[in-house]
Amino acid sequence: MHSLKFLQQFISNAFSDAEFVNEPLQLYEPIAYTLDIGGKRLRPVLVLMSCDLFGGEINKAVYPAMGVEIFHNFTLLHDDIMDNAPLRRGRETVHQKWDINSAILSGDTMFVIAYEYVAKTDPELLPQVLNLFNDTARKVCEGQQYDMNFETKSDVVIADYMQMIRLKTAVLIACSVKLGAILAKASPQDAEKIYDFGIELGLAFQLQDDFLDAFGDTNKFGKTIGGDISTNKKTFLFLKAFELAREDTLLKLTNYYCDKEIDRSKKVEEIIRIFRQLKVDEITRHEIENHHQKAMDIFNSLHFESGKASEMIGLMQEMLGRER
Ligand code: IPE
Ligand code: IPE
Ligand code: MG
Ligand code: MG
Ligand code: MG
Repeated sequence: MHSLKFLQQFISNAFSDAEFVNEPLQLYEPIAYTLDIGGKRLRPVLVLMSCDLFGGEINKAVYPAMGVEIFHNFTLLHDDIMDNAPLRRGRETVHQKWDINSAILSGDTMFVIAYEYVAKTDPELLPQVLNLFNDTARKVCEGQQYDMNFETKSDVVIADYMQMIRLKTAVLIACSVKLGAILAKASPQDAEKIYDFGIELGLAFQLQDDFLDAFGDTNKFGKTIGGDISTNKKTFLFLKAFELAREDTLLKLTNYYCDKEIDRSKKVEEIIRIFRQLKVDEITRHEIENHHQKAMDIFNSLHFESGKASEMIGLMQEMLGRER
């Protein structure tokens, strides 16, 4: 079994060796910029680790793993336009550094490159791999649409939010671990189970992302703190606050989330104060732990040797204890 550190280095080397620049430069430079900065590269590591866990060869999983990461980065280019985000990974977003058209078209091209990489796999497994990838890609778009719809919808409840993050975030994490299982030729039962594990991990991961968007440190998180608040995102934090707030606080919360003219920094500051006052930070941490535990329970039912399981358990802790 390879260590988490080894797999992180392995995927980082694979990206360093790949060449993304081509003509016309205006199309390919933003792609190289995005993929060279790199993020945490969690999804490709999940593909490789799952493949390794089920006894597969990681060399055969490296291209599909890169494909998943390229797909993820494509979604970020478009997501940053949709969320009006100026900063990612501590650097300017593509639409900010170039322009919106560049971020659209370079993103589209990354979507194609992602498919090219995912398809570089055992031809015998290709139909199954593409089926999973297509299903995932469509669901991510559905989730992103709900996320946008909810910005202006006033009757969103936590169950709607959980379904939305399942689609926009959890299915890609689940796809990553299931892909690893498929490439290792694991049993269909195990592939399904690890998918369900990925869903719980993905839900916890997005909850953590929402938590950091309000309570993180920009220097570590690499994104603008309060981005979700200023765009009126119906996050778990907001919906929980809305559930708990009474009288003046409820009125304030409602007004802040419909007024478009309001001063941004004052709004963010006030909302974070309300979140703290209602202990929404603690409640969110508790909810993350809940889904972490559910993921652990599913994972433990898969019966890996303890030496093998520890690397995945470590990766889960890294994902959910993250500050970036
Ligand atoms: C950001 O994902 C988008 C979410 C689904 C929360 P990551 O936090 O994995 O982003 P990078 O790739 O490491 O920057
Ligand atoms: C990310 O949701 C989901 C996708 C990109 C598909 P967010 O909008 O919360 O991600 P960040 O915070 O911008 O990374
Ligand atoms: Mg965003
Ligand atoms: Mg978004
Ligand atoms: Mg976010």
